Amino acid sequence: MTLVLGIESSCDETAAALVRDGREVLGERVASQVDLHARFGGVIPEVASRSHLEALFPVIEETLAEGAVGLNDIDAIAVTNTPGLVGCLLVGLSGAKGLALAASKPLIPVNHVHAHVYGALMEPPAPPPQDLPWPLASLVVSGGHTSLYQSNSPTEHLRLGRTIDDAAGEAYDKVAAVLGLGYPGGPRIDEMSTRGNPTAYAFPRTKLKGLDFSFSGLKTAVVYAARGPNTRRNAPLLPDLCKEDLAASFQAAVVDVLANRLVEAAQSIDAGGLVISGGVAANAALRERAQAEAQRLNLPLYLPSRRLATDNAVMIAGLGYHLMRTGIVGDLSLDAVPRAD
Ligand code: KG4
Ligand code: ZN
Repeated sequence: MTLVLGIESSCDETAAALVRDGREVLGERVASQVDLHARFGGVIPEVASRSHLEALFPVIEETLAEGAVGLNDIDAIAVTNTPGLVGCLLVGLSGAKGLALAASKPLIPVNHVHAHVYGALMEPPAPPPQDLPWPLASLVVSGGHTSLYQSNSPTEHLRLGRTIDDAAGEAYDKVAAVLGLGYPGGPRIDEMSTRGNPTAYAFPRTKLKGLDFSFSGLKTAVVYAARGPNTRRNAPLLPDLCKEDLAASFQAAVVDVLANRLVEAAQSIDAGGLVISGGVAANAALRERAQAEAQRLNLPLYLPSRRLATDNAVMIAGLGYHLMRTGIVGDLSLDAVPRAD
């Protein structure tokens, strides 16, 4: 029995979790900063770091209390050290180092994006890791990431492609801001799209060489469609604009690109299954389309519940367990690396 305490602070959630043997959750807390950043329409790094500093130890203490364990009962501390906002990563990493030093526990560095993949595999219907049909084609889509991987095991993820500009969630948030829908915009566009015509606008499906993504052209096309030739910041929307049609057509383009690339990736690596994770994995249209593609390819599709799709520390502790088993342990010289290569 191995008990890992996970700590996550890479963006705008401060989270801790206690996970036994990589799968069984004994305690978890997430302190979200969404309300704090909503009035700015996006995450302000300096505000986020300060908020992590306030939330970190209460969140850890509550997690340990929920699991009814003390620091001495855990076997290791896993912490996100890459990628993310550097000031935010440093808060979690410094806290984890302090605890590891005080309690003489191993410190395990965790890649946040790899952990998103693992998070989608922690709950049924996904079987335990040894029974999964590796390799998996894994798509991580959130406000900060859009990457495709060949996942060979819980700990080995070879990147096949990534966005060269905006992340898909970022494009959702920017389009929502132009339409005046508030932040975060993904869920609002998702809902609004159900009332719109997805073929009303023929937005571009940018296809780069290889398996990379680009969403900035799509974003610009949507802004022009919303405001006409007036590109001034905060320019008014066209008077006869149907926001529902615009949202639905934008979403159709994003879903097309993501689903087609995932299928292409799966075929290129002869994958045994598909994974979609990250905040955008909550998108109803993406889930429906991915189910259809998986059925067509006759492959299992692993989608996380909302709790494990968005940022959390359960996935950090879970992946930390497997990293520890493969001998990946850091020390107090461990650094925060804002951009993963
Ligand atoms: O994983 P996450 O909670 O945080 C990180 O960015 O790491 O993802 C948040 C992103 C936001 O951009 C949000 O707009 C998007 O996920 N999102 C969605 C939906 N729910 C959240 N995008 C599209 N459809 C949704 N239903
Ligand atoms: Zn994330």
